[in-house]
Amino acid sequence: MEVMIKIEKLSKYYGKGGSIKAVDNLSLEVYKGETFGFLGPNGAGKTTTVRMLNCIIKSTNGSASVYGFDINKDSENVKKVTGLLAESPGLYDKLSAYEFLEFIGALYDVPDDMLKVRSENLLNLFGLKARSDHLLEGYSRGMKQKVLLAAALIHDPPILFLDEPTSTLDPKASHMVKDLVKDLADKAEKTIFLCSHILPVVEELCDRIGIISDGRLIAVGTIDDIIKRSGKSTLEEAYIALTGGVDERELLSWREQGDAKA
Ligand SMILES: Nc1ncnc2c1ncn2[C@@H]1O[C@H](COP(=O)(O)OP(=O)(O)O)[C@@H](O)[C@H]1O
Ligand SMILES: [Mg+2]
Repeated sequence: MEVMIKIEKLSKYYGKGGSIKAVDNLSLEVYKGETFGFLGPNGAGKTTTVRMLNCIIKSTNGSASVYGFDINKDSENVKKVTGLLAESPGLYDKLSAYEFLEFIGALYDVPDDMLKVRSENLLNLFGLKARSDHLLEGYSRGMKQKVLLAAALIHDPPILFLDEPTSTLDPKASHMVKDLVKDLADKAEKTIFLCSHILPVVEELCDRIGIISDGRLIAVGTIDDIIKRSGKSTLEEAYIALTGGVDERELLSWREQGDAKA
């Protein structure tokens, strides 16, 4: 299998003297054409990882290559082959959807004629054509998310990073975005790195997942593998056990200690 993202001992520390280990010694591979789910609780280090892989922030230690390009040495090429739907992106409310795509396309140096065709295609594909001349300020959250997803695709990158793509959306909008992501994986054959703390999203969309907790990768594999290895019967149970939910044995040992004292 062709490796599209190779992460080797990547770390990012924040704070005085690097006291916050946001990402700690992460090694991981993502293969061509898969939708890889990066699952973990809030604060686990997902966004930090995505920012490093998109050359928005520098790593503290370690390395990664994206489509063969080194994130530490070749950020220009990395940015050409990746699209990013950020967790809390800025959107230009006073632009129309069409203008926004033109603006982002220009940032990515997409040639004018190609930009026109791509913008039209994406607006059609995402069902945004009818209102593409309206200002974004009037759009619903779901529609805004679709515009942002279209913008992430404007330079036709082979790899797409989606950071919590549905977390702020209502169920209907969330469903719509999930369908688009499925199409991008199946029909457009994008390699997708999807961060989420929402289990059903990951279960529905992802071929393989990695679970991150406190900056450390604690499990990686297919969902079935992870469930089996954890000795549980659902991903939810496995996830809770792995990310240090209430451990039954700990509870038991605590009770036994209590009993002994009594
Ligand atoms: N710019 C920053 N400065 C200091 N700490 C940060 C910064 N960004 C993130 N962190 C910390 O790093 C950890 C990981 O955060 P983040 O990558 O945003 O997690 P996630 O996306 O999984 O919710 C958290 O403890 C968070 O508070
Ligand atoms: Mg995040």
